[in-house]
Amino acid sequence: MKYAMALVLAAMVSSAHAMARGKDADSPAKRIYVKKCSSCHGADGKGKAPMAKMFKVKPEDMDLTAKQVAAKKDDELVSLINAGKGRMPAFKEFKDGETVVEAAAVVAYIRSLAPAPAAVPAAK
Ligand code: HEC
Repeated sequence: MKYAMALVLAAMVSSAHAMARGKDADSPAKRIYVKKCSSCHGADGKGKAPMAKMFKVKPEDMDLTAKQVAAKKDDELVSLINAGKGRMPAFKEFKDGETVVEAAAVVAYIRSLAPAPAAVPAAK
């Protein structure tokens, strides 16, 4: 019983930490990211060096936490995701089970991976 309580408490504390960092512990957008994007961009969004090599792009080009991504407006990132870029496939629609997940929500998730949200220009 005590063990179960400790587990519940530990889970609450870790999700509170995740939220404090602006990362919803288990949001539909995160699940989409993990399923559709992390294989190339990494769970931390920084991009995977072997992938960059394979796609013949600079590692920075796949770093979703980099300045050039922060500098883009939400709309631009949504269009980029819908259209694809270079070797990146186009993603038209996201579904988490039956729920449609907007690309904008995935963009918000990517932004939460970037180091300093304060450095992100007011993108709208
Ligand atoms: C098959 C591998 C692959 C997958 C899967 C993938 N990407 Fe990419 N992505 C790339 C590559 C390669 C680039 C660099 C393209 C270039 O610059 O030519 C890129 C670039 C980007 C950029 C632009 C970065 C910049 O510097 O402008 C964004 C934003 C992005 N991806 C988001 C996503 C999101 C969101 C997903 C999931 C829905 C995703 N990607 C899935 C390979 C992938």
